[in-house]
Amino acid sequence: MLSEQSAATVRATLPAVGGAIGVITERFYDRLFAAHPELLRDLFNRGNQAAGTQRQALAGSIAAFATYLVEHPDERPDAMLARVAHKHASLGVAPGQYETVREHLFAAIAEVLGDAATAEVAAAWDEVYWLMANALIAIEARLYAERGIAAGAAAWREWEVVERVEETPDVATFRLRPADGAPAPAFRPGQYVSVQVRLPDGARQIRQYSLSGAPGAGVRQISVKRVRAARAAGAGGDSGVRTTGPRRDSGVRDAEYGAATAEYAPDGEVSTHLHAHIREGDRLRLSAPYGDLVLDGRTGGATDTTPLLLASAGIGVTPMIAMLEHLAGTGHPAPVTVVHADRSPADHALRADHLAYTGKLPDAAAHFWYEHPEPGHPADRTGRVDLAGVEVAPGTRAYLCGPVPFMKAVRGRLIAKGVAPADIHYEVFGPDLWRASPMSSGPVGEATTSSTVTGSSEA
Ligand SMILES: Cc1cc2nc3c(=O)[nH]c(=O)nc-3n(C[C@H](O)[C@H](O)[C@H](O)COP(=O)(O)OP(=O)(O)OC[C@H]3O[C@@H](n4cnc5c(N)ncnc54)[C@H](O)[C@@H]3O)c2cc1C
Ligand code: HEM
Repeated sequence: MLSEQSAATVRATLPAVGGAIGVITERFYDRLFAAHPELLRDLFNRGNQAAGTQRQALAGSIAAFATYLVEHPDERPDAMLARVAHKHASLGVAPGQYETVREHLFAAIAEVLGDAATAEVAAAWDEVYWLMANALIAIEARLYAERGIAAGAAAWREWEVVERVEETPDVATFRLRPADGAPAPAFRPGQYVSVQVRLPDGARQIRQYSLSGAPGAGVRQISVKRVRAARAAGAGGDSGVRTTGPRRDSGVRDAEYGAATAEYAPDGEVSTHLHAHIREGDRLRLSAPYGDLVLDGRTGGATDTTPLLLASAGIGVTPMIAMLEHLAGTGHPAPVTVVHADRSPADHALRADHLAYTGKLPDAAAHFWYEHPEPGHPADRTGRVDLAGVEVAPGTRAYLCGPVPFMKAVRGRLIAKGVAPADIHYEVFGPDLWRASPMSSGPVGEATTSSTVTGSSEA
């Protein structure tokens, strides 16, 4: 795939480019948003830009992709790019925008590398860029075609809120129906939609929310956790982050959104807007469903014998509920192990559904851990998730969704119990810094389907 000549140049310059990639992406975004302020206002997540997490994810993905190409010059790591392509498609990213990104990325590379950015070096990295961009454009074209939609503005549709349910003090479920009365599009359990809201300053901000119910009914639902402001506690704090709001929020927030180094992390823009302003009868603009953390095509049927493990923490419960409801509906006959961590039963969104769908399955068990247990739930455990006493059937396929530290701990435990790394799939509710870090012990380059960092208790 990568020409021999470029592979040699990329290999030789990878340490320099890799070493400066943080500064390069910094300059890239400054240039991009100076030339196109509408992209920061209406397409990119302003919170992630302020917290720096999106910049890290982009830098990490370029470095990881280039490393992969020089190590496997004849292959194209589409699996690695699938998560990004799903996210891009859910945002309506169009092929023509890749030229805009290239222009500002290469201006940033030239600025940072200076004389080292010779014509030969620029040409080699241009090849890397277009291999990556064309792979993304191709996957995104397929995703748009499968949904029968075009990129850009045409990717959005109006939905009406037919019901709002307060699940916990911080999580609300919004049930939605297409406003034009047309059928709701099909989706696979585990997938998410992008939600686009117009904020008071006129910005149009977009966030992703997992569909928290199984496909089937005409009504779709999302369950949104309100992200509250947090202030750094200074040295010596247990988590480094304190809330200024009425509820305590632990160090989970920094793990979730990468805001630990900020002195002050404000309320989340879109989740706060949805909680404060969206009621029954209001309208929301939604993308089609996307996401590659989905049950395997063969899984979930009445004849399927694959044992499954669904592990979540906090608001990471949402894709798991959709999967579990689907499995309960199809009578999945093989063992299903349900694992969840939360602050307390009262904070555990969709707890009743979690228990009800598990109870409907012929061979399923639920294991819940709470930092603050409440009386009346004797089966629940206290503290962090400990899989030591949980039976994991041979051949188990696992789906994880929660803060990265939680998922790393569960993944390590599952591998120790004999689960194949390729059978462990995960989702991150934010820019995926786990996969994006080539140096991490995470699943870079492994055949995981996806990545979601979420809402609550780390375990
Ligand atoms: C695939 C996927 C599925 C998801 N599913 C769900 C779901 O089912 N339910 C759910 O509740 N969420 C889900 N999310 C998360 C959701 O998309 C949002 O990220 C979340 O609601 C927070 O968005 P927000 O606009 O409220 O916060 P943002 O405004 O985006 O803020 C994000 C973080 O950045 C911090 N920040 C903002 N500005 C600054 C600054 N200047 N300095 C420092 N820090 C700053 C904020 O304090 C916050 O911690 C999912 C995400 C993904 C990617
Ligand atoms: C080869 C080129 C590109 C690469 C390598 C790339 C890479 C990435 C990565 C790694 C993410 C984070 C995904 C995640 O983990 O959530 C991302 C998100 C995103 N990308 Fe791209 N991208 C490219 C081109 C583009 C283009 C052309 C656009 C449109 C202008 C775009 C817009 C976005 C937006 C809006 C997000 C989400 C940002 C957020 O939520 O904070 N990208 N991209």
